[in-house]
Amino acid sequence: MEDKIGNLKLKNRFILAPMLEPNDIAFRILCKKSGAALTYTGMTSPLSKQKLQLQDKPAMQLFGNSEKGIKEFMKKYDKKVSLWDFNLGCPSKLSKRLCHGAFMHDDLETIEKILKIMRESTKKPITIKLRKSKNAIKIAKLAEKYVDAIGIHPRTFKQGYSGEPDLAFAKKLKKSSKVPIIYSGNVDEKNAKELLKTFDFVMVGREAIGDPRIFARLLGKDLRAGFKDYLKLAIKHKLFFRQIKYQAMNFTKGIEGAKKLRLKLIGAKNVRDISGAINL
Ligand SMILES: Cc1cc2nc3c(=O)[nH]c(=O)nc-3n(C[C@H](O)[C@H](O)[C@H](O)COP(=O)(O)O)c2cc1C
Repeated sequence: MEDKIGNLKLKNRFILAPMLEPNDIAFRILCKKSGAALTYTGMTSPLSKQKLQLQDKPAMQLFGNSEKGIKEFMKKYDKKVSLWDFNLGCPSKLSKRLCHGAFMHDDLETIEKILKIMRESTKKPITIKLRKSKNAIKIAKLAEKYVDAIGIHPRTFKQGYSGEPDLAFAKKLKKSSKVPIIYSGNVDEKNAKELLKTFDFVMVGREAIGDPRIFARLLGKDLRAGFKDYLKLAIKHKLFFRQIKYQAMNFTKGIEGAKKLRLKLIGAKNVRDISGAINL
């Protein structure tokens, strides 16, 4: 099994999955501290003018359905990222309307154009993140020319995030692939080690939301990575109050008295209210 993606050597095979809302810089840093070998940003448009916080050198995920802006964007940020990824899995209504993410799978020509531009724009590793579809294996085959690893979330766009991920489909992809395969889909403490017998890397998604310590536990370590640690980093990196409040809600997941705590958090008007309410 590989512990490298292209020329990037990773210290273990546990990765934080790309997630648009949860993966702010403070959360990514905390997941790294907890032991994640690599963390992804959420999907980002190369045409976006928003200020990006990349001091932690994450894997940066792009999305879209044209090459427009990719070269310039990658040139601008290339030194600040560990690797580049292209999203071929988003099942949202917006992706459907704009025909990107999981809805690009019939347009192999555009996919290849985009991967080619990405390959020409960086010496850093490149990955794609695919969903299951009738064309997914074909796309993986054409992508091998340009990318250093392939992520697979083996649910169809119709399934969204529920229903069983099709493990057999991901195994078929692994068998046919020349590049390392990163598995995503319901990875947790119970199945991660078993999945790593088949796949080169696993991505932890929802299990890590509000619980970055999951990476420490997967590595058999005992480490603090609670909301207070998140808050310190969030303040340092000047994150918006609404993002901090959203993450505070996430950190109440599974704890005793969560319902009461959430009600308190709903009424929080500033960071002091939040840190007074939550002692995690
Ligand atoms: C809140 C949320 C946001 C997500 N955002 C992205 C994204 O920006 N790009 C992407 O490729 N996948 C995204 N995903 C999908 C995850 O990366 C992952 O493939 C999926 O959640 C299955 O893994 P899990 O069962 O471990 O959560 C998102 C998932 C969630 C729950």
